Amino acid sequence: MGTLDDKVAIITGSGSGVGRGIALALAKEGAAIGVIDINDAGADETVALIEAAGGRALTVHCDIRRSAEVDAAVSSVVEAFGNVDILVNNAQGARGQVPFEEITDEDLDLVFQAGPIGAVYFMRAAFPYLKDGYGRVINVRSGAEQIPLPGMGAYIAAKGAIGGVTRIAAREWGQYGITVNSIAPAAMTDAAKGYFDANPDKLEAVMAGMSLKRFGDAEADAGRAVAFLAGPDASYITGTTVSVDGGGAFYS
Ligand SMILES: NC(=O)c1ccc[n+]([C@@H]2O[C@H](COP(=O)([O-])OP(=O)(O)OC[C@H]3O[C@@H](n4cnc5c(N)ncnc54)[C@H](O)[C@@H]3O)[C@@H](O)[C@H]2O)c1
Repeated sequence: MGTLDDKVAIITGSGSGVGRGIALALAKEGAAIGVIDINDAGADETVALIEAAGGRALTVHCDIRRSAEVDAAVSSVVEAFGNVDILVNNAQGARGQVPFEEITDEDLDLVFQAGPIGAVYFMRAAFPYLKDGYGRVINVRSGAEQIPLPGMGAYIAAKGAIGGVTRIAAREWGQYGITVNSIAPAAMTDAAKGYFDANPDKLEAVMAGMSLKRFGDAEADAGRAVAFLAGPDASYITGTTVSVDGGGAFYS
């Protein structure tokens, strides 16, 4: 028996990294998973890992920047598994480090569309199912907002917007029994490794600011925190952000 038996979860960007860790954690609690990504090979690998662990999952190709694709993705998951009980907006596009004054229009389009705008598309499309069912939304922010990490201006602006989306949806949807929260993770994913490989000095600085002196694990840390927020023990928690980053950044 898992805490999420008979539940259905959509997890964007779960073809790798933190999203895959969240998918594995929720699947091991019994949820069927819609694995949403533009990276089909990565999504298929996540599905294979879930099935090998005895769970149920489906690859759904979807670019979260396209609302028609988002609507179709939600329909595919409903068709396969019958409902959407849990939505995790994890996918985030971004270019690497860019000095603030050199942020381009394309940088802004990418971070907002493949971030908060995509999250709103999914929340809008999933609302009828969240409303009539169990109703949990977990968005993924970043401690980079709080530190804030230089060179990540566009990304930080988009992550801040996800915080706003989380709070207003929590306020408006509380009447329907839907909770909306965020996590701010730190996990040594391929994306994080790429960043630190390109900026070796930053790893030391980030570790120095991390209260617990280790990097997180996508499944054991971020995934388990989302399993808690999606589970029965978190039914009275909404509108908040949980740092799952070893005490690297504190939200006030
Ligand atoms: N890794 C960390 O330490 C860390 C720290 C803070 C915040 N985060 C956040 O956690 C989340 C996952 O980060 P990660 O490190 O696992 O990165 P990642 O790059 O490994 O994963 C992102 C996934 O999203 C997918 N994706 C990107 N654009 C998409 C789009 N338009 N449509 C559909 N899918 C798309 C990618 O293909 C990829 O599978 C992001 O929101 C990131 O901002 C991560």
